[in-house]
Amino acid sequence: MFSNRTNWKLTRNRLTEALEEAKASGVRIIDLTISNPTRAGFDYPEREILSSLASPHSLDYDPQPKGLPIARAAIAAYYETQHATRVDPECLILTTSTSEGYSFVFRLLCNPGDEILIPKPSYPLFEFLADLGDVKLVPYPLLYDHGWQIDFPALREAVTAHTRAVVVVHPNNPTGSFVQAGELDELNRTCQEHSLAVIADEVFLDYAHDHRARSTFSANQEVLTFTLSGISKISALPQMKVAWVCTSGPQSQVETALSRLEVIADTYLSMNAPIQWAAPTLLDQRKEVQRQLLDRVLANLAELDRQLAAQSSCQRLIMDAGWCAILRVPVTQTDEDLAIELLRQKSVLAHPGHFYDFPSDGYLVLSLITPAQEFSRGIRSILGVFNG
Ligand SMILES: Cc1ncc(COP(=O)(O)O)c(C=O)c1O
Repeated sequence: MFSNRTNWKLTRNRLTEALEEAKASGVRIIDLTISNPTRAGFDYPEREILSSLASPHSLDYDPQPKGLPIARAAIAAYYETQHATRVDPECLILTTSTSEGYSFVFRLLCNPGDEILIPKPSYPLFEFLADLGDVKLVPYPLLYDHGWQIDFPALREAVTAHTRAVVVVHPNNPTGSFVQAGELDELNRTCQEHSLAVIADEVFLDYAHDHRARSTFSANQEVLTFTLSGISKISALPQMKVAWVCTSGPQSQVETALSRLEVIADTYLSMNAPIQWAAPTLLDQRKEVQRQLLDRVLANLAELDRQLAAQSSCQRLIMDAGWCAILRVPVTQTDEDLAIELLRQKSVLAHPGHFYDFPSDGYLVLSLITPAQEFSRGIRSILGVFNG
């Protein structure tokens, strides 16, 4: 009765089961996996946000496949002011989420069974997106050596006649590593050589820990490039469902890609009017919420470093951006068993590295947007496990 592509193993994993058990017992859990900024104690300009959704223009139905011009102009203005990059609003297609943007691009580029290269470790949603798009994901490694780098020889080896694109997450989640300028050149050369597109996920681009703006792939003209982002992270408003795909690269390829993407978008017309009219306001309020988020991230990182300095069993990996820290811990069991033990014995919830496809055990991923006191207590409990 059901398609093979939805033949997923839907049973809960052992960590989720342990979490349900802990919650049922009434114990208070210190949650170091928080990724929802709307429930993390940040101040939002509530009245401004809510009133932006009440534009009288929303009473009119104007079905525009790429999205309403007012919203696309606001996104172009964001690239101009925040990343000093000119983006033609005609190259932007609005989607409800980055995930929807991925689906559109996979549908644009891939026949069933075609391959997309994805970084490993990275964010776990890709697998389901690929299954739904009948696309095969092929990982390419990121290597850690005083910071993360793309393993280009391995990436090139992973290319086959069926490969259509390389995904880069800039900066990557959870490693917090940007694609460096030299890596961009090598990526472009590799993509040119094998006629591959680049799919760049930039949802965390504004969260560089040194506050320095980084260049965006929307400026990449060397190869066909799809830059994905949205206000779920930029403005910390995941519930508002505004994202986009920006297409750049050689002009004739861009024109063809855009005309086809427009048909895909027209088939769904998934953007609603109130949110598109609100988009300029929602994007504009990013500055205040980004400041709060970065303040929290940097304070938690400093607290983590302070506690790590007082022991020698665990270290954190170097990262440049994003909302996560990666803790390197002694390998005494699998990461999943460790996470379950932390939950049962210390009431601390942390993500095991394998959740993000780390190549070996010995990693915990910690959310740096956790409220400060909770973060400090959680870290103390984890380090206590390894330091007597
Ligand atoms: C790297 C990355 N891309 C995309 C997303 C999802 O973004 P959206 O809410 O726009 O689908 C996430 C969510 O955590 C993410 O970490």
